[in-house]
Amino acid sequence: MELKPTTKLRGTVTIPGDKSISHRAVMFGALANGLTEIHGFLQGADCLATIDCFAQMGISIENNQDTVLVHGKGLRGLRRPSSALDTKNSGTTTRLISGILAGQPFETTLSGDASLNTRPMGRIITPLSMMGADITSLSGNGCAPLRIRPADLHGISYSSNIASAQVKSAILLAGLYADSETSVTEPELSRDHTERLLRAFGAELTSTKTDDGAVSMIRPCNELFGQKIFVPGDISSAAYFIAAGLLVPHSEIVIKNVGINPTRAGILSVCEAMGANITYLSKTNDGGEPTADLLIRTSELHGTVIEGSQIPTLIDEIPMIAVMAAFAEGTTVIRDAQELKVKESDRIAVVTEGLKRMGADIQPTDDGMIIHGGKPLHGAEINSYLDHRIAMSFAVAGTICDGTLTIKDGDCVKISYPEFYEDLYSLGK
Ligand code: S3P
Repeated sequence: MELKPTTKLRGTVTIPGDKSISHRAVMFGALANGLTEIHGFLQGADCLATIDCFAQMGISIENNQDTVLVHGKGLRGLRRPSSALDTKNSGTTTRLISGILAGQPFETTLSGDASLNTRPMGRIITPLSMMGADITSLSGNGCAPLRIRPADLHGISYSSNIASAQVKSAILLAGLYADSETSVTEPELSRDHTERLLRAFGAELTSTKTDDGAVSMIRPCNELFGQKIFVPGDISSAAYFIAAGLLVPHSEIVIKNVGINPTRAGILSVCEAMGANITYLSKTNDGGEPTADLLIRTSELHGTVIEGSQIPTLIDEIPMIAVMAAFAEGTTVIRDAQELKVKESDRIAVVTEGLKRMGADIQPTDDGMIIHGGKPLHGAEINSYLDHRIAMSFAVAGTICDGTLTIKDGDCVKISYPEFYEDLYSLGK
């Protein structure tokens, strides 16, 4: 993919559906009785992998592009797939589905692509095993492929040392099948879409804040009920247009239908701390998730510090924030973000490599990066390492830097935003 600088961005862009919510809507719909109607489903490769996994387990799913119909068969309605489930590049599919499969009366094997099969699964194997699950890393190194055999599950109180919605969700989903209540305590509240949506499907679930952290508790469940779901636009996808609108001179753009759940909206506070001019238009709270249209105007940005409880609220946006920081005046420090090393790529190393190639002053640290912004940045050849968020973050850099920027394997954006380049192009025309 080749990008050239643009003089201004103007117009309106509608953001595709939230990836986290799209996955969950299909999963919970499959486990519910009756029809689940999903509007605004994200047709990204990761979410399609989730559809395929449940189709392989006997769930009829009609994918009519914007609307997906899931004909759920109840908590005990899945059937044994005839071969291993392929979770492709999707960590969310792999980890969440493991919690569901731990409670099924049949054996399954889960495996993904080369990148997925190097990502840590010990973080779900440990708590699920504590619940009694029979789950094994077949490679023996704590990664997928995973084999999951039938077992009786019991409730646990699990204290997680990372704020991870995937870990929390895997445990809560296994908790649906346990013999007593299950709780997960995490140091900071990670995205709470599982809690909001499972409650809407009829699960008994409570969320509280204690001195030890955020606690989510679920009771074993007999039945979930099909729902009509309107998936808000993904703030992680909006992040690229927020950054582009702020950085490209003479820009004024409206980003429609952005989910602004507080457990996801850290990028907005960070942009504001950097001096951004963002206006919230028509806020709504339909369907259990807050959304807004955002008006973004070119702004003079300066450095900031991003750390602690902010990190889980913007973890997927850090590559974009790092690129923004390189164009901003002054120093930006990102810390407490070790999790970046185990995403679709090692995002500390890969962001550092790309920004250095463009002439930026950036130092990687053990848990983040330090960026001295404001140096003139030039085009370069950027390796996406097949990581969609790296490709999109550097595509934005390519609309501002001097000269041409090329992205290797730029089509990996199909994981979460298949029309990304077309949408970016349409604002620059
Ligand atoms: C996700 C949770 C986050 C995030 C990922 C999607 C989810 O991962 O990075 O893109 O949908 O639950 P972790 O739970 O590993 O932090």
